[in-house]
Amino acid sequence: MSSRGSTIHEAARGFEHAPKPYEIGRPPYPTEAIERLVAELGIEDGRRVLDLAAGTGKLTRLLVPTGAFIVAVEPVEAMRAALTKSLAEVEALAGTAEAIPLPDGSVDAVTVGQAFHWFDGDAALAEIHRVLRPGGRLGLIWNVKDESVDWIEKLGGIMEAYRGAAPRVASGAWKDAFDRTRLFTPLQRARFSFVHEADFAAVVARVTSVSFIAALPPAEFARVVDQVRRLLATHPETKGRSTFELPYRTGVYWCTKA
Ligand SMILES: C[S@@+](CC[C@H](N)C(=O)[O-])C[C@H]1O[C@@H](n2cnc3c(N)ncnc32)[C@H](O)[C@@H]1O
Repeated sequence: MSSRGSTIHEAARGFEHAPKPYEIGRPPYPTEAIERLVAELGIEDGRRVLDLAAGTGKLTRLLVPTGAFIVAVEPVEAMRAALTKSLAEVEALAGTAEAIPLPDGSVDAVTVGQAFHWFDGDAALAEIHRVLRPGGRLGLIWNVKDESVDWIEKLGGIMEAYRGAAPRVASGAWKDAFDRTRLFTPLQRARFSFVHEADFAAVVARVTSVSFIAALPPAEFARVVDQVRRLLATHPETKGRSTFELPYRTGVYWCTKA
């Protein structure tokens, strides 16, 4: 697999249109999961942490209270601008996982929220290894919709029709680079679950925050919103409701620089 260097996956460019729906529609990470990530990575006052692919700062802002010095790296300007607006104290740099704009051995830990599946895994692991100090740790976290619930599966189906070549977290393909690498110890994992309470606008934003939906031409985009409206109005689990419970599973993964 070749490195994309300073470019990102074609479909990830859709995040340019996504900062607002991302903030409204994506749930925060659950407290227990963040506590576990922070504990396993030894994130505390005085440590230097890179939050890679930081987006609008949904993970970054939960790391700030640890007192660690945090630097955020995010390639999409509109996402980075939203982060800077709400987290003025965090240094935010343009860059990719495959070309991290930091010196060798300069951070104690690297976090990646909801994003490793977008990377060229081999190139990203080599870069993360380079910027970590000896014995530094890498942590990954994802909130994934629980599609064992029927209306959530149908909501997922509306989005899937547009996925194209965009990578899917649930495929597990992102793990292949970890299986191949000798740069890190084997991944360890903890799992959590929670429910995100959302109103109609937030459910729509959950769908339109997805990069390849956010990038659709207006007429197609309106058709997607209409399908979501119809699903919520007609599905027995959501019909007549004004707030909706979206179940999520959270996976936390970590490993150490070998
Ligand atoms: C789903 S968002 C996650 C944002 C944030 N980490 C969070 O927890 O909400 C994925 C982010 O990964 C970024 N991204 C995509 N490809 C990337 C790459 N190759 N290197 C760094 N960031 C990338 C996107 O621009 C987007 O902001």
